[in-house]
Amino acid sequence: MWACAAAVFGADLTGTWIAERTMPNGMKMETVYKLKQNGTELTGTMTMMMGDMPIRSGKVERDKITFEIVMDFFGEERKITTTGVIKGPDEIELQGGGMPRPPGGPGFGPGGPGGPGGPGAGPGGPRPPMGPLIARRLTPELEKARAEEAAKRPRPALPALKELADNGLVRTPPMGWNSYNAFRTKIDDKTVREMADMLVETGMAKAGYIYLNIDDGWQGKRDEKGVLQPNAGFPDMKALSDYVHSKGLKLGIYSSPGPRTCGGFEGSYLHEEQDAKTWATWGIDYLKYDWCSAQQVYPASDMRAVYQKMAEALRATGRPIVYSICQYGREKVHEWGPLAGGNLWRTTFDIRDTWASMTGIGFRQAGLEKFAGPGRWNDPDMLEVGNGGMTHEEYRTHMTLWSVLAAPLLAGNDLRKMAPETKQILMHPEVIAINQDALGRQGYRVAQSGEQEIWVKPLGKGALAVALFNRGAAAAEMSVAWRDVEMEGAPKVRDVWARKELGRVREQYVASVPPHGAVLLRLEK
Ligand code: GLA
Repeated sequence: MWACAAAVFGADLTGTWIAERTMPNGMKMETVYKLKQNGTELTGTMTMMMGDMPIRSGKVERDKITFEIVMDFFGEERKITTTGVIKGPDEIELQGGGMPRPPGGPGFGPGGPGGPGGPGAGPGGPRPPMGPLIARRLTPELEKARAEEAAKRPRPALPALKELADNGLVRTPPMGWNSYNAFRTKIDDKTVREMADMLVETGMAKAGYIYLNIDDGWQGKRDEKGVLQPNAGFPDMKALSDYVHSKGLKLGIYSSPGPRTCGGFEGSYLHEEQDAKTWATWGIDYLKYDWCSAQQVYPASDMRAVYQKMAEALRATGRPIVYSICQYGREKVHEWGPLAGGNLWRTTFDIRDTWASMTGIGFRQAGLEKFAGPGRWNDPDMLEVGNGGMTHEEYRTHMTLWSVLAAPLLAGNDLRKMAPETKQILMHPEVIAINQDALGRQGYRVAQSGEQEIWVKPLGKGALAVALFNRGAAAAEMSVAWRDVEMEGAPKVRDVWARKELGRVREQYVASVPPHGAVLLRLEK
């Protein structure tokens, strides 16, 4: 026993380590650690769908290792500590890490999305604790074989970069419903039809929520001609799309440029044009294209071309299809997203149904406003309103912030059991009108003092939305002076949530804002 342990502790950990995770649907996804040990010091990189992340502050002490993963999050460094126990010369049991989890960041388990807490973790509710992840060292022979295999892996021809013209769609931020926040990858035809019914019955469709988007989990296998088939949960996609269209709604679908989606389902790798055609025949109106395993095939520098490729494939079908880029805000996507044909692009990791996640993501959108406009929207991820993890006040703040951000409004709650207070939030016509204002301007922060922030969103006809946010745990008296929001004279002020005219107000407005609450004003000259 002692001899064995001594051999383990003395072992050098330098090498390539693979941690493999089995998805709920049986698919496998891996995280690669390239480690270099120098005495007790450990350095290297971790690679997963979010890209390469440097390992820092790595230490080896007897049979224990610790290291930090560091990633650039909007220019801000985020760290997570991983610990591990060396179980043998070629085996480490990792705990608690694998993916930087910023405060309020993504719900990714060890080794990335799809781990406990990631996609497939089941609808809503508290996340299960993260289990250990076993990393195994590749033998030199295996490493060589893998490198050879990677070199042999076919790479689809990527287009030369160009600036695609605006496709004319979504002049105001897309509104609709997406299956992922409530159902993760457990979605089927029956549920989608029920959601279509509910969008109409609840008045959501009338309020503007018209895109019914199926996220990950619909895919089956490819047939002998390579045509991607839905899985058994979706017996007939064309029939489903006809049904959705018969309700006056539009149907969205999901894929990845990689071999596998984040949930481990079949991706569009090497079948880009074919898949675009298949979706067009089904009558698909919206595609969310999620990077996921594409990192196993492409360097990050190819991202723009990879996204452009699908944009061109979609356009070649002749069907108007809204194109939603999802690669978690990497590579300054806001700068090239619209040029690559994107109508919207995710600017963050996955939202979770918590105050910390929602505010962490939402308020960090400051500075991105200049990249948004009609047909091209920053996407801070879908709504969690009504999923149960936040209070009514917090969900109102969520909706206020997304409205002011001109963010896509994609509800993510189970519409079959929508409480009246959820409806009040999601269907408030004046809050929606601010989000959908034809000017298409994304709001921005004009003042911040401790936990209080003031944001404005210019609206058509010289009107202005002003939002007072109190991120603090105690009520706060907040005031906004018109000169600070470039409003002159005594504008007509309306308290939007309260649907109350406040008359003409001179100089400033003072409000008591509840803890974690927001006051939304509409100013007209
Ligand atoms: C990623 C995306 C999510 C969702 C899942 C599906 O995590 O960011 O929005 O689409 O994949 O597996």
